[in-house]
Amino acid sequence: MFTDQVAIITGAGHPQGMGRAIALKLAEQGAAVVLVDVANAEGLADAVKEIGAFGSRGTAIRCDSSRPEEINSCVGEALKQFGRIDILVNNAGVSADIPYFLDIPEETWELSYQVNVAGTAAFCRAVIPAMLAQRSGVIINNASLCGLGAIESAPANYTASKFAVIGLTKALALEFASRNIRCNAICPGVVNTGMRINALSRIAEQQDISLDQAQAYEDESIAMKRAAEPEEIADAVLFLAGPGASYLSGIALPVAGGMPPGL
Ligand SMILES: NC(=O)c1ccc[n+]([C@@H]2O[C@H](COP(=O)([O-])OP(=O)(O)OC[C@H]3O[C@@H](n4cnc5c(N)ncnc54)[C@H](O)[C@@H]3O)[C@@H](O)[C@H]2O)c1
Repeated sequence: MFTDQVAIITGAGHPQGMGRAIALKLAEQGAAVVLVDVANAEGLADAVKEIGAFGSRGTAIRCDSSRPEEINSCVGEALKQFGRIDILVNNAGVSADIPYFLDIPEETWELSYQVNVAGTAAFCRAVIPAMLAQRSGVIINNASLCGLGAIESAPANYTASKFAVIGLTKALALEFASRNIRCNAICPGVVNTGMRINALSRIAEQQDISLDQAQAYEDESIAMKRAAEPEEIADAVLFLAGPGASYLSGIALPVAGGMPPGL
């Protein structure tokens, strides 16, 4: 479905992360993929190998999403290698392990803003000129269910940053719709990734319970009684990137196994 298209996926290095799952599925469907991350160099290299094995083109670029100058050179490098950018998936994100507002230090607010919001905006700013020149493009921002409402135990800085990601998504969708650039957000609920394990470990420690118990409590709170696998989120991204979503822009799509009460 994505033959001859080029996709950039940020935060794609973690072996269990959504970014890698999204990159692999896009590549499986024919896209050339640029996998970007600030860390997880080994994970990036493995993913590029895996992509090569099923006959697609992939490349890895180290880039810190909180640094606009690195973002510009990353996008420049992608354009140099592949000549166009059809899809941008802003997936890189940081959570924070401090659930109580009064305990969250200034630098934690700063980091979640720099990576989740400003980094997402900077990647959009870097790719949109190429998309305008091509007269087409798709941007998908990985927000969160936390971008649609406050969820117990989700830190305020994370929630605020993900609301901002959805605001940015809607603003770009509106500004660029008439020029054939679509911009949507996905809002995963709980996904079985390293980020989830970190959050559960924190909850287990605070409540003096085991990791398994923390996971069971969280699973019970989800309408479908289980977390998503990264591949299930990737399927939603591929839908939004593909022709089946040609008339969709500016939406924030929950991918959450049913909505939690109150959202
Ligand atoms: N896991 C969940 O339950 C969940 C739910 C909703 C939304 N999300 C969002 O999904 C996205 C992917 O998260 P994940 O769960 O796959 O976790 P993950 O930790 O596997 O992926 C995040 C990736 O972002 C990268 N990253 C962090 N800071 C970066 C920076 N400054 N520059 C470049 N890359 C950076 C990390 O190295 C990592 O590979 C994040 O935006 C997260 O906020 C996660």
